[in-house]
Amino acid sequence: AANKKLLILPGDGIGPEVMGEVRRIIGWFERERGLGFDIEEDLVGGCAIDAYGVPLADKTLDLAMGADAVLLGAVGGPKWEPLPFEIRPERGLLKLRKEMQLYANLRPAIVFDELADASTLKHEVVAGLDILIIRELTGDLYFGTPRGVETLPDGTRRGVNTMVYTSPEVRRVARIAFDLARKRGSKVCSVDKANVVETTEMWREEVIKLHGEGYEDIQLSHMYVDNAAMQLVRNPKQFDVIVTGNIFGDILSDEAAMLTGSLGMLPSASLGDPDESGRRRALYEPVHGSAPDITGQGVANPLATVLSFAMMLRYSFDMDAEAEMVEQAVRNVLKSGLRTGDIMQPGMAQVSTTVMGEAIIRELGKLG
Ligand code: NAD
Ligand code: IPM
Ligand code: MN
Repeated sequence: AANKKLLILPGDGIGPEVMGEVRRIIGWFERERGLGFDIEEDLVGGCAIDAYGVPLADKTLDLAMGADAVLLGAVGGPKWEPLPFEIRPERGLLKLRKEMQLYANLRPAIVFDELADASTLKHEVVAGLDILIIRELTGDLYFGTPRGVETLPDGTRRGVNTMVYTSPEVRRVARIAFDLARKRGSKVCSVDKANVVETTEMWREEVIKLHGEGYEDIQLSHMYVDNAAMQLVRNPKQFDVIVTGNIFGDILSDEAAMLTGSLGMLPSASLGDPDESGRRRALYEPVHGSAPDITGQGVANPLATVLSFAMMLRYSFDMDAEAEMVEQAVRNVLKSGLRTGDIMQPGMAQVSTTVMGEAIIRELGKLG
């Protein structure tokens, strides 16, 4: 088979630190398992602003469009916060998602047995948890117009953002939720604010309609977002698949991250529709950001990015066995007692980003 074309965008802050460990894991697969990747690397976010003057250069976008998969670290940081909104690092990431039409963002929150005590919640609340949040990624407040801030003649400032969804946008992401639920617990909870926000009432109606068109085997429920935020910490195991809009999904997935022990554990996959050749555009990134507070210290947890790489193997390349190897290696490293600071527990050994990466490679070696 032809080599897989991979674009790696380490980004800013801890992005390059955690991506460095993934590069070593890729190297291991190339050496030991003969996997062939054609890897390109480029800049996105603040480092792209510094080098190219924009957070996502056209040539970088072209590389992303031509790649079989994109792996991204994180973007942003205090250095670029004073910049005008349109050229901030975050706009680069949003443009990438929008141009690649990656409308379905899969954010699995899985609690590894070894970390059930690392969560701020009680052991019995989180032990064994395995939920999948599907966040719509190309609509909503993030992209709706009108938007912006204006100053009125009397000096009052007025800020506007618009929550917009169309029925096809709702249906395509709900379809992904139903299809994926079928391969797991067959339960979907659609989260909205249908009691107050019309856009989300339409969301709920469209989800119900689609459910009636061949998804009757899926147990569908609906929840208001405020209640969902509460239920996620009260009893998260009631959920299987959660499907929701862009802004609610952003917030709920950070909340769900803490169930797993740390934001540093949560991977994600952002998927679009297959094109004419059957290839599905896809981007894989940790849920966390560039973590300016720990950048440069070598202490960032690389596991969210490593697990995002495993999602890439599974969803883009159908390499289920290799994906499971990576996940098993992560589990074994945790079992052996190694911890980065964010998931540190009494009696465990606190290690750096690179020591964690080396340990994963050692475990991969043992697994074959
Ligand atoms: P953040 O996710 O960067 O950090 C939140 C907290 O979690 C920090 O205390 C950080 O140290 C910790 N943390 C995050 N990842 C960690 C890891 N792998 N290991 C250990 N600890 C980790 O969120 P923030 O501080 O709100 O945002 C910082 C910058 O990152 C901002 O510029 C923001 O816009 C950007 N951001 C980018 C992305 C992305 O690129 N996808 C996502 C979120 C935030
Ligand atoms: C995320 C981040 C991004 C988002 C920001 C950095 C644009 O918080 O990936 O969750 O809000 O989508
Ligand atoms: Mn977020």
